[in-house]
Amino acid sequence: MVLNSKTCQLNEIADKADPYKKNLGKMYKLLHEMRNHRIIPPWNPVKTKLDLLKTLHGISEDIWGILMNYSIKIDLEQIINSRNPVVIELGSGDKKRQGRVTVDKLDLPNVDIVADIEEGLAFLPDNSVDEIHCRSVFEHIQNFEDLIGEIVRVLKSSGKAYIFVPHFSNPYYYSDFTHKRFFGLYTFYYFVDKEHQLKRKVPNFYTDTRILILSQRLKFRSIFSILSPFKKLVGWFFNLHPVLQAYYEENLCYVFPCHGIEVVFTPSKE
Ligand SMILES: C[S@@+](CC[C@H](N)C(=O)[O-])C[C@H]1O[C@@H](n2cnc3c(N)ncnc32)[C@H](O)[C@@H]1O
Repeated sequence: MVLNSKTCQLNEIADKADPYKKNLGKMYKLLHEMRNHRIIPPWNPVKTKLDLLKTLHGISEDIWGILMNYSIKIDLEQIINSRNPVVIELGSGDKKRQGRVTVDKLDLPNVDIVADIEEGLAFLPDNSVDEIHCRSVFEHIQNFEDLIGEIVRVLKSSGKAYIFVPHFSNPYYYSDFTHKRFFGLYTFYYFVDKEHQLKRKVPNFYTDTRILILSQRLKFRSIFSILSPFKKLVGWFFNLHPVLQAYYEENLCYVFPCHGIEVVFTPSKE
């Protein structure tokens, strides 16, 4: 390996991080277990405790990044402290996203922060983000509940999340071996207070994270262009009202499969 000044610097930081890694790892595992057994509520307190540890040990941002497995290639602090809206794209891939801070687990061109979002959004402070965009990513996530908790934590109370996920009737969903979960009309309602849910109520006691759904649309698409006008018509009709969407999902989705769901939500914080 050729060592340049940057790799030397990184190696030095990594060496300094090593003694912390052992203890942090242990503490992280313990907190994770406590959360799994619901001894403590999901994610937020874990993050707060880790933050406390970081402050107590005086761990610098560089070392913290190595411990938490992320690397930031931009001046994130400046973006967060500026007066401009903070817009984050999670699982951005390699596309250039003007005006957005891009996050991906792969160090691709145009990625500003390399991070595994399964491990949370530790690089973002509480209530600091105006918009989160996330397209075709949640289906790759195992730790879905915690990630929604993290999105709620980092969004300002006026902030919004714009999400696209595949619908469970999408026939191509099953071809992708990296997909871990699928979504229906009710999935995001498991995070919603009963009075704001659809006609069919779903349990919201699995999680303390709360969101308010601002809009939800079923998206239809076909690789056969001849079917496009028909798919558009189906989408237009069933998106006219949530009751029509519910009727479609219960009775027709395997006849006219749905490509995916576009959800816009805002955090519901006390
Ligand atoms: C199907 S691609 C979608 C890319 C982009 N959002 C789009 O719509 O074109 C999924 C992206 O999510 C990223 N991704 C998957 N799991 C991730 C994780 N745990 N943390 C961060 N990024 C992840 C992948 O690396 C990939 O770039």
